[in-house]
Amino acid sequence: MQDYIAQNKDRFLAELLDLLRIPSISADTQYKADVRKAAEFVCEKIQLAGADVAEICETPGHPIVFGQKIIDPALPTVLVYGHYDVQPADPYELWDSPPFEPVVKDEKIYARGACDDKGQFYMHIKAFETMMATNTLPCNVKFMIEGEEEIGSNNLELFVKANREKLQADVILISDTAIIANDTPSIDVGLRGLSYLEVEVTGANRDLHSGVYGGAVANPINVLCQMIASLHDEHNHITIPGFYDAVAELTAAQRTAMAATPFDLEAYKKDLGIAEVRGEEGYTTLERASIRPTLDVNGIWGGYIGEGAKTVLPSKAYAKISMRLVPNQQSEVITKMFIEHFEAIAPAGVQVKIRPHHGGEPYVTPTDSIEFLAAEKAMEESFGKKPVPTRGGGSIPIVALFEKELGLKTVLMGFGLDSDAIHSPNEHYGLFNYYKGIETIPLFFQHYAALAQK
Ligand code: BES
Ligand code: MN
Ligand code: MN
Repeated sequence: MQDYIAQNKDRFLAELLDLLRIPSISADTQYKADVRKAAEFVCEKIQLAGADVAEICETPGHPIVFGQKIIDPALPTVLVYGHYDVQPADPYELWDSPPFEPVVKDEKIYARGACDDKGQFYMHIKAFETMMATNTLPCNVKFMIEGEEEIGSNNLELFVKANREKLQADVILISDTAIIANDTPSIDVGLRGLSYLEVEVTGANRDLHSGVYGGAVANPINVLCQMIASLHDEHNHITIPGFYDAVAELTAAQRTAMAATPFDLEAYKKDLGIAEVRGEEGYTTLERASIRPTLDVNGIWGGYIGEGAKTVLPSKAYAKISMRLVPNQQSEVITKMFIEHFEAIAPAGVQVKIRPHHGGEPYVTPTDSIEFLAAEKAMEESFGKKPVPTRGGGSIPIVALFEKELGLKTVLMGFGLDSDAIHSPNEHYGLFNYYKGIETIPLFFQHYAALAQK
């Protein structure tokens, strides 16, 4: 197996670079044809690797790639999930090289999607190819690689509900998260949920001269800023009534265990170029970024933002607001709480409109399961070090849905690094990580198949 990987190393990389050249930005309809091209690429590679089914499944949005290799229906089945869509690449001017012209520099692949998630799910196709070519696939495998993860997976949800039979498996395996460091392997045992909304505040029925009307009429931008500022108190707690009601507090023992996770606060600050961290009082940085819920403005706009100065009192102001959720908060409940509160705090003289976007539920993976044990053993073998369990701060909303609709647990065996700049300019993925993933995945299959048969 190792030999096969070594012999095909360069081709494994070249293929990934080809995939990275396709600008499969799901959010932007201009790239619709490219998104499909990426799906076709992935489908073909799954086929070539030795699957007996590889197909493009149409949805009202971007297609889903499904593949499978059933070697024996009596054996367990691993369902690999990933996403071939990527985030928009702007601001383009901050990239050192064009986002869809991948380059390998300092042992890293630079391109949009290099880590999130093309580089990571492609490891699975190459690991599958390796197991097929060396006759070492120990159980059945299915692939479900979607094209709408970055925009909320709405069509995947419908697909899962309509295809329970087809997707039948014993466990879901995903590489779309990070490890602590290349010499400190880890496995995420949790994901946060998400509520995402857009708010619109309207003042007067038109833009006004800020001298003639200023001071006498509500300025929606001023008001929006005040409203947003009031959503946190002086302890950085969120002020929406009931927001924390369902939050599962960690036990003292769990918090102590978490405090033992390798984490260098000074290096963290230095990497981000900040003098001090800031967050909810009473919690550590690791806790704030994983087991505590948050509320953040992702974008805010309105009024005049062109060159020079225009004296105007805008009619409208907007913001996009996300809330990261933790067990046992529910996205729909939190969204409703936000809407009610935001409407209640709007002063007279403005109107508020709120549009909910996508959401998703938080997830915690069991650590006493055979799949977690298999992932632990696989990583320990390939890294030479036992992985640390970590709670992730990001969201993969479909994971909670897999459990609800398919009754399946997920293992989050990711290989990225937090410093890989996902969703940012100069996103990259280490060659070390790419090849380490290809090496570790077959070990997972081996251990999982062995443990499942006991
Ligand atoms: N792969 C990320 C999620 C992630 C990153 C989890 C790092 C844990 C560690 C995924 O592609 C992503 O970006 N998800 C979105 C949610 C989606 C609904 C847009 C997110 O977390 O913002
Ligand atoms: Mn991802
Ligand atoms: Mn992402």
